[in-house]
Amino acid sequence: MNRAKFIFPLVTIVLCLAAGPGRTQQAPPKSPKAEHAPEKALDPWWKHAVIYEIYPRSFQDSNGDGVGDINGVTSRLDYLRELGIDAIWISPMYPSPLVDFGYDVSDYTAIDPLYGTLADFDRLVSEGKKRNIRVIMDFVPNHTSDQHAWFAESRSSRTNPKRDWYIWRDGKGSDEPPNNWQSWFGHSAWKFDPITNQYYYHHFYTEQPDLNWRNPQVRNAMYDAMRFWLGRGVAGFRIDAVSRLFEDRNLHDDPILPGKNAYGDPNIAHKYTDNLPEVHQVLREMRSVVNEYPGDPVLISEADEPNIAELTKMYGSKNDEIQLPMDFQIADVNKLSAPDFRRLLDEIDRNPAGGQPHYFFSNHDQPRQWDRYGDGVHNDQIAKLMAALLLTTRATPLMYYGEEIGMRTTDPVRKEDVQDPIGQLGWPQEKGRDGERTPMQWDTSKDAGFSTAERPWLPVPPSSAEYNVKAESQDPNSILSFYKRLLALRRSEPALRDGKYLPLDQGNPDVLSFLRKTPGKGDSILVVLNMSAEPRTVSFALDVHGVREATARPLISAPKIARESAVLTHFTIPAFGVFIGSVH
Ligand code: GLC
Repeated sequence: MNRAKFIFPLVTIVLCLAAGPGRTQQAPPKSPKAEHAPEKALDPWWKHAVIYEIYPRSFQDSNGDGVGDINGVTSRLDYLRELGIDAIWISPMYPSPLVDFGYDVSDYTAIDPLYGTLADFDRLVSEGKKRNIRVIMDFVPNHTSDQHAWFAESRSSRTNPKRDWYIWRDGKGSDEPPNNWQSWFGHSAWKFDPITNQYYYHHFYTEQPDLNWRNPQVRNAMYDAMRFWLGRGVAGFRIDAVSRLFEDRNLHDDPILPGKNAYGDPNIAHKYTDNLPEVHQVLREMRSVVNEYPGDPVLISEADEPNIAELTKMYGSKNDEIQLPMDFQIADVNKLSAPDFRRLLDEIDRNPAGGQPHYFFSNHDQPRQWDRYGDGVHNDQIAKLMAALLLTTRATPLMYYGEEIGMRTTDPVRKEDVQDPIGQLGWPQEKGRDGERTPMQWDTSKDAGFSTAERPWLPVPPSSAEYNVKAESQDPNSILSFYKRLLALRRSEPALRDGKYLPLDQGNPDVLSFLRKTPGKGDSILVVLNMSAEPRTVSFALDVHGVREATARPLISAPKIARESAVLTHFTIPAFGVFIGSVH
């Protein structure tokens, strides 16, 4: 398909379509779309940025309703600047019935009043700019809410002009869905709609009907929504569930696997509903949308790619798709294993696309790293180890609010307290994602300084008495102080910023070591991470890497190393210890 021919004539049509239903809006600022695409930097900001995910319901409540909001985020920008954050990705704040807490969008070009107004959003962007903190929007292209005006039209009749904006099919027989496809959130992915006697497809909750990305009008309406936010100064998008955009046209059944899932359904391989090759054309189109804007806006993809080959494809064969595909392989290691991390870091570092790696360990869908990697005894030390791993490798790191203070996963203990519907559906095997979405712990006042409400939307964990920003700011050995030192070092050391990643001591089963080799004449940085519960002695011959001196000067270590220098041919690193030193 010739892309130029395909998209551009449709832009005008779609502007009319997109302006149709939905909430009345302030006119978006004029698109700076130039005659010629703005020049792209050779060394764009997102290669050196540290990105921080904010789950807006849980970061800071400014109006006492128990739910976090935009003004709350703005009021905490100074904290983020001091921490050393360059950009925030905020989970969805669009109008939404909140079945999936915002990932069910009912209007792509507005802000839900629960979080504030467009004016509040604009103020957040401009206050962020003053502090060099960019704002990245969450974008949810795979599905809308069933309350979106587009879906209301689509379901109203089989001949409605928006019928084909969603995926409608006849059942196989009476009470039988079109095929065996399953929702990621349990049970059939088809929902019968009595209005027109057809089924619609939903990869996630029934309230989240999938858009039909084979329809050019859908594509263009969504690209215009992206332009709406780019025009307001956002620095890019984290694109939700991007590998799920297409499904097999012929509706082949997915292969059944042994066993059952948490919802009691047979396990299946999502062969015909995930990672279809057509996704890449859409990614190229999205990339050309962001390329229309100055300032090198970034695309981050949420796609749990199964291997390095699939992850590499996300960058695009001409580096024309996603700049930062989230690396779920690293996030899913789920145990302290030096060989596993080494293998994955090596693979992605050498990815044939030459793409920038993008690592994270925690997010709003994943149990927090403090307890996921913790052994129950040394969790604080292990939290520092994971911080060092995230912030010293050659990658754009992505943090999740609260990881810097060692927030832990605090699951509900009673089914009736669960907010996330998958926790209701899969209880007790699947408790849902409330545990990783609890309010940010700022201090020891009521509700940890998150809210003045009687009851915040999720309870504040008891661990906030000890693990909070205020207390940890005053303790030089806290997890927070450790993060701050690491983030400052990342900024000040050219080798950490731009240096090559060179794996060392590659057969070591317990200790992960690597060199960040400076591009110029300055010092290189040696990173040694002991992933075992015993002290380990390591030995490095770094002369092959141009290091002449036999010692390393400690920059950051935990537990703290008192020595002035460490001898490279023989030094012992404590259990779960971190050593970061400069070598010359
Ligand atoms: C993504 C989001 C998750 C959401 C799902 C459906 O995986 O991260 O929170 O439930 O998409 O939109």
